[in-house]
Amino acid sequence: MAHDVVLIPGDGIGPEICDAMCRVVDAAGADIAWHEVEAGAGAIEHYGTPLPPQVIDAVREVGVAIKGPVTTPVGTGFRSINVALRQEFDLYACVRPCHSLPGDGSRYRDIDLVVIRENTEDLYAGIEFEPDDPAVERLGELIEASGQRRMKAGSAISIKPISPEGSRRIVRYAFEYARSHGRRKVTAVHKANIMKATDGLFLRIAREVAADYPDIAFEDKIVDAACMGLVQHPEDFDVLVLPNLYGDIVSDLCAGLVGGLGMAPGANMGEGCAVFEATHGSAPDIAGKDIANPTAEILSAAMLLDYLGETDAAQRVRSAVAATLAAGEQVTADVRRALTGSTEGAVGTRAFADAVIAHIARA
Ligand code: NAI
Repeated sequence: MAHDVVLIPGDGIGPEICDAMCRVVDAAGADIAWHEVEAGAGAIEHYGTPLPPQVIDAVREVGVAIKGPVTTPVGTGFRSINVALRQEFDLYACVRPCHSLPGDGSRYRDIDLVVIRENTEDLYAGIEFEPDDPAVERLGELIEASGQRRMKAGSAISIKPISPEGSRRIVRYAFEYARSHGRRKVTAVHKANIMKATDGLFLRIAREVAADYPDIAFEDKIVDAACMGLVQHPEDFDVLVLPNLYGDIVSDLCAGLVGGLGMAPGANMGEGCAVFEATHGSAPDIAGKDIANPTAEILSAAMLLDYLGETDAAQRVRSAVAATLAAGEQVTADVRRALTGSTEGAVGTRAFADAVIAHIARA
């Protein structure tokens, strides 16, 4: 029987890479019934909102979705629909594996890391106040009355809530992931030396949870030191668990270790609901030109296939992507440039997908 999956192509490069992804998944022999819904820039035109109710309804009904990226205007306009989806379905764990592939164009070899980012709290909770909001003055008075320093006039405020439940479930998710995937260590990343309340709580809970997993090593690292460590000695890391903002930033850093954003897949996991998507954004600079690398989206689909129990199809997809990159002849501009210093000889998004499909057919 076909697996129902909601498909949200998104905007920017989303539709191109999702088209490539669907063709590869279908070629791998997985029986998927794609239910396509529109979100992002196109949805604003058609429905007056970037996240129409039918998108939410479809994800709620089906329980599993794969999406392309969606543009979020900076500083103004609608709040990120990615954040909205994660909050709506309580997709609290963002899982981003970063594994080296031969021919990925990275300066690094043998990278094998998994970033697990908390997805619902922290500065992304969406509790924010513009400078002219009367709540800012009231908050200022409250803060001063509690003996803390006065805020400068005209300040804007973003609140960083970190809860014990939110911290416990994400750290537990990281340890369970480590256990079920045969990993050896979990590193909790934080800035508890400065943010003693919020990150201090996250770290305290992480230590508590770690005590329940004596079979998995545990360490903690301050986020700035962790960034340097990842660049200098990535082999010192295994599974990383981070609050939302650090997780966002460190995910891109780790994508850079395996050839860039075009390579890094991901999944947003909740209880009974999962939304798969690449780490990268909508890349407006290259949208509509058939030059985006669909690898990250295709590898996100491999994670989706594993989730659906279609592990053979998932393996066929991964092997074909690896073989295409290793052959090095039909790769997209980002990889070509990393390998040769020039984009000359690169192929487009569609042609790369064709090459992957040809490898599936030959296997
Ligand atoms: P971005 O990830 O879209 O692009 C950063 C750089 O990486 C650009 O130079 C882009 O061309 C390149 N790049 C990204 N994906 C690529 C691919 N598959 N192949 C080749 N090159 C690729 O980040 P940016 O520019 O900061 O964000 C653009 C928009 O995307 C923003 O509105 C942002 O809010 C949104 N965004 C959406 C996400 C999502 O829907 N999950 C995640 C991250 C950002």
